[in-house]
Order: sequence, then structure tokens, then C-alpha cells
Amino acid sequence: MEIAVTAPLPGDGLEQLSKRYSVRVRSPGLLAPAALTEFIGDAAGAITLLADPVNGEVLSGCPGLRVVANYAVGYNNIDLDMARRLGIWVTNTPDVLTDATADLTWALLLALTRRLREAEDLLRAGRFLGWQPELLLGLGLQDQALGIVGFGRIGKAVARRAEAFGMQVLFTDPSPDLQDDPRYLPLEELLAASTVVSLHCPAAAGTEHLLDARRLALLPKGAYLINTARGQLVDEAALVRALASGHLAGAGLDVYENEPQVHPGLLARNDVVLLPHIGSATVTARTAMADLAVANLAAVLEGRQPPTPVVAPG
Ligand code: DGY
Repeated sequence: MEIAVTAPLPGDGLEQLSKRYSVRVRSPGLLAPAALTEFIGDAAGAITLLADPVNGEVLSGCPGLRVVANYAVGYNNIDLDMARRLGIWVTNTPDVLTDATADLTWALLLALTRRLREAEDLLRAGRFLGWQPELLLGLGLQDQALGIVGFGRIGKAVARRAEAFGMQVLFTDPSPDLQDDPRYLPLEELLAASTVVSLHCPAAAGTEHLLDARRLALLPKGAYLINTARGQLVDEAALVRALASGHLAGAGLDVYENEPQVHPGLLARNDVVLLPHIGSATVTARTAMADLAVANLAAVLEGRQPPTPVVAPG
């Protein structure tokens, strides 16, 4: 049986898989749907990345496909309805990347509010002329409100870290079970009450441009935005305008609306910290993601229940 994997993965999961299946691994690089269809071809299973467009054209163009094991917790790159209709399993890699992503959210939050990028640039440019009382003053986080949008695994892990920093945690989430929590606020009230807003919800129908110009304007003047979730959640052009007008004090971004492109208006600014989608990029997390993707794929092909299904055909 053939397995198609769209990039090499850390750890020895693929090596183990090669002992039982014929595994084809592609070099990393963006793939258009036609090229992805051609690469998957007759494979029974595919391990895909979050940038692979596993749309209807790809799913219906690969008639042997029984499982798509996405190497990501997010699965907005996959047409789930079509997978369901065609009886193809879809799996993801939750849990194993929660701490890594929450840590990176905090790295961005601290880098932004304490102006680390500007500070290092100043030093490297030879402009550090000795300690000064008013050099690069940032925001003290203690008692400031952190508004978390999406209170799933990663949102909660970010909240746990916020408590250690003495921040006041607020959150919003569509799940009715969470709405009795005293920290819960509806989205727009949360935006108005937060000094720092951090996004942790999936890209799905209804969350595209969740933060548009109108909602960005609800944040208090001088607030900060962090996004380690998905770029589609933020209207990037509106964000650039909110920064340029001085309404927002800064943004820390790991993800972009048209990834891997970054809005030129962001690249030109000093009050942003921009990372290349490395939220889960620790050896531990990325190896565990590979092991989980392999376990999911092998389980389907061997007639067992995969550990973390997203679409389970009836
Ligand atoms: C995911 O898993 O969805 C992240 O964006 C990358 O780890």
C-alpha cells in the first residue's frame, strides 16, 4: 500500500511506516491542488501540512485515498464535507503542541510589550550609549487584562501562564459550557476590556476577519494584538491602519492572512514582531506531531480507530 507524505517529518515515524508501507516523501514547498493530486496519486493514505490545499478537487482526484492525516491541529486546509461524502478519514494532531504554542504566544507577548526587537536593533546599530531612565519603556503586564479569544486547549494554556505573570484573564468562546465562568465575556465586550488580545480560535466559516476594522476599533487605544492561531482571523489591511493611526500600540504575529506572504505595511513597521509560523516548532512538539500523524494514518489503514479523528466516515 502506498503512502504520500508532503514533507520530511522529524523523528523516526516515517521510517517505522516504511517498514510496512511504500512511503513517498516530497521535498518541502508549496503545492497547488493539481500538483498535490498528482503527488498523492493512488496512495491509500496521505500525511499533509497545513499549507496543502486538500480541497474537493484533490480528494475526488485521488480515488484510492482512505485517510488524510494532517500534520497540524488546525484543518482549515481540508474540505471536510467532501471527505465525509467520499468516506475519507481526516485526522489532526491536537494536545502535543499545546505547550509549545502557548509558550510562543508568551514569547511574542513579552517581546512586543517590552520592545525587544527595537531594543536589539538599537544595540546592534551601536546606539546603546549606556543605561538611561527613559530608554525603551514598555508595558508592565501585572494587573493588565489579557483577552483570550478561543478558550480551547491552547487558550487555556496561555491563561495559565498569564496567571503567573499577574495578568487578569478574560476569555470569550462560543461553547455554552464555558459561559458561566466569571472570566467569560462576549467577544466585543472582551475586546473593549483588554489591554492585550490573543487569538486562539480556528479558521472556519464565521471566523474569517473576526477582527475587522470595526472590531479592531473596539480595543482600547494603546492595546496590543497577538495572533498565533490563523491569519484569516484578522483583516491584515485593517490591522495595518489601526497601527498606523496609533490606535493599537503593537501586534505580535506568527500567522498571516495570505501566508507565506506578509502585508508590506506590517513589514515596514517597528511596533510589530513578525514570526514565520513557528508556534509549535520545538523538537518535542514537532516529533510528537509526526508520531501522532503516523499513528492516525496507520490505525485507519489497519482497521483500528485513529487516536484523534476529525472526520470519521460512518
Ligand atoms: C497547527 O498545528 O495548526 C499549527 O498552526 C502549526 O503547528
